[in-house]
Amino acid sequence: MGFDAGKAGLTVGVIGAGAMGQGIVQVSLQGEMNVVLFDAKDGAAANGKEQVVKRLERLVEKGKRTADAVAAMKDRVTVASSLADFRDCSCVVEAIFENIEVKRQVFAELEEHVADDCLLTSNTSSLPIGSIARVCKKPERVAGFHFFNPVPLMRLVEVIRGPGTEEWVMDGLCALGERMGRTPVKVKDAPGFLVNFGGRAFTTEGLAVVHEGVATPAQVDAVMRDCGHFRMGPFQLMDLTGIDVNYPVSLIVHEQYSYDPRLRTVPLHKALYDAGRFGRKTGIGHFRYDDKGQEIDP
Ligand code: NAI
Repeated sequence: MGFDAGKAGLTVGVIGAGAMGQGIVQVSLQGEMNVVLFDAKDGAAANGKEQVVKRLERLVEKGKRTADAVAAMKDRVTVASSLADFRDCSCVVEAIFENIEVKRQVFAELEEHVADDCLLTSNTSSLPIGSIARVCKKPERVAGFHFFNPVPLMRLVEVIRGPGTEEWVMDGLCALGERMGRTPVKVKDAPGFLVNFGGRAFTTEGLAVVHEGVATPAQVDAVMRDCGHFRMGPFQLMDLTGIDVNYPVSLIVHEQYSYDPRLRTVPLHKALYDAGRFGRKTGIGHFRYDDKGQEIDP
C-alpha cells in the first residue's frame, strides 16, 4: 500500500465542522485539495464552510489571495449529508467531540464507506489512538493527525503512531501535513502525545498558582507574556481552546498517567466547565469577550 500526498485532485474528508474542523478545511484548500465536510448537527457543515470562506475572503482584502483563487476554493468544498459521501476521500480527519464512544462509532461507520487504502485519522487531543483503532477492521491505516488551534496559524501537526499504524501511513500523513503547509512531527501514542503532555504544566501550574491565591489569571498571563515571551498566557489559551475541550483533556491525561498529582487540575477549572463558561465561544471563561471574540478589559 502507498499514499500519494501529491496527487492532483486529492480529496480530504473532515468530520466535525467546529473550530478545528474549519481550520483543517482551510489548510486543505490552501494545499490545493478538495474537501468533503460533514457534521452531525443540522446546518453546521454548511455554516462551517461559510466561516472558512469568510476567513479566506479576509485574505483577499489583505492582498494575500486573489478573489478568483478563493472562489475556486469555495467550489472545492462539498457539504456532505452523511458519511457515505466520503467514498472518494484519500484521507479522513475526524474532529468531533472529545468522547471515546462517539469517536469509535464514527470510525466504525466510516470504514463501511471509504476505500481500503483511505487513511483514517483523529484530531483527538488526548484519547489513545489505539483505543479508537481497535474498532476498525484495518487498524494499520489509522493514526492521529493532531493540529493546533488556530490551525491556519499554528504550524505544528503531530502524526501519532497507533499500536498497529504502518510506516507508509505515517510517511503519507507527514507528506500530507506538509502539503497543508504544516510542520509534521512523528510521535508515539502516549497520553497527551508530545505537546499535551510536555506542555501540560503550563496549564496545570498556572491553575495551581491561581487556586493557591498567589496571583490572578491576568497576572499569570502577563508574567508568561512579558517575562516568558509566550504569545499568550495559559488562561488566555484555555479560553481560546475552549474549557469544554481542555477540562476533559486534563482529566483524561491525569487518569492516563495514574493520577500523577503534577497533572491534576483544580476546582476552578471544573466550576467553569459546569457553568458552561467555555471561554471565547460563550463570551465568558476566565475572561470576558465581546461578540467578535475580543477580550473586554476587566
Ligand atoms: P467543537 O465543539 O468546536 O466542534 C466539534 C464539532 O463536532 C461540532 O460541530 C459537533 O456538532 C460535531 N460533532 C459531534 N459529534 C459528531 C458526530 N458524531 N459526527 C459528526 N459531527 C459531530 O470542537 P473542536 O474544538 O473543534 O474540537 C474537536 C476535536 O479536536 C476534539 O477531539 C478536540 O479534543 C480536538 N482538538 C481541539 C483543539 C482546540 O483547541 N479546540 C486543539 C486540538 C485538538
